[in-house]
Amino acid sequence: MTATSPIRIAPSILSADFAALGEAVRAIDAAGADYIHVDVMDGHFVPNITIGPNVVKALRPHSKKIFDVHLMIAPADPYLESFAAAGADIITIHPEASPHFHRSLQTIRGLGKRAGLALNPATPVDVLDHVMDLVDLILVMTVNPGFGGQAYIPLADKIRSVRQKIATSGRDIDLEVDGGINPETAREVIAAGANVLVAGTAVFSGGAEKYAANIAALRG
Ligand code: DX5
Ligand code: ZN
Repeated sequence: MTATSPIRIAPSILSADFAALGEAVRAIDAAGADYIHVDVMDGHFVPNITIGPNVVKALRPHSKKIFDVHLMIAPADPYLESFAAAGADIITIHPEASPHFHRSLQTIRGLGKRAGLALNPATPVDVLDHVMDLVDLILVMTVNPGFGGQAYIPLADKIRSVRQKIATSGRDIDLEVDGGINPETAREVIAAGANVLVAGTAVFSGGAEKYAANIAALRG
């Protein structure tokens, strides 16, 4: 990113109190979150089950911020429309979760939403090569997806490679990083070219009165 590009923080509500998600969304909105990151897991693509489109729809009135919906479900295609209708602004999918990934990205765009591509730690960046014109966000996973609170996997070289591909494309594509992000690892991923940081544990620790300081600490 250029020096003037702002860093955006996307708190993951996976780390919030699931009995009070609306309150959590309002609290992180007020605390300065840029995106609201929603981790959708199906117990099949990843070994955990979280929330579905009805919950996204219920949360939508609680914030005007960008709803950044990260689908860790397979197959993803049958649910794209539901998440779009529920109020997602960005829908991010994993190439392993769709046999015709190019078409899935077209579908998301066709629903009027921004399309994201998520790279698992072992997924090569080459998967981007034929779809750069169809992606608005590239998510580099720095943990294996499924759970919050895992240790950051150092993938700065991969983040740099993705940043290079974005520069070559000439397009304005978000480079998001997700997993084990805290003030220390944030510095590393920002230096490598990330401009959107997902953080669950690092934002939701210490209670609501700490959220603003926790978010500010991630901006570097
Ligand atoms: C992992 C999720 C992440 C996770 C981040 O599968 O995609 O969004 O909740 O949580 P932390 O910041 O605790 O690693
Ligand atoms: Zn996520």
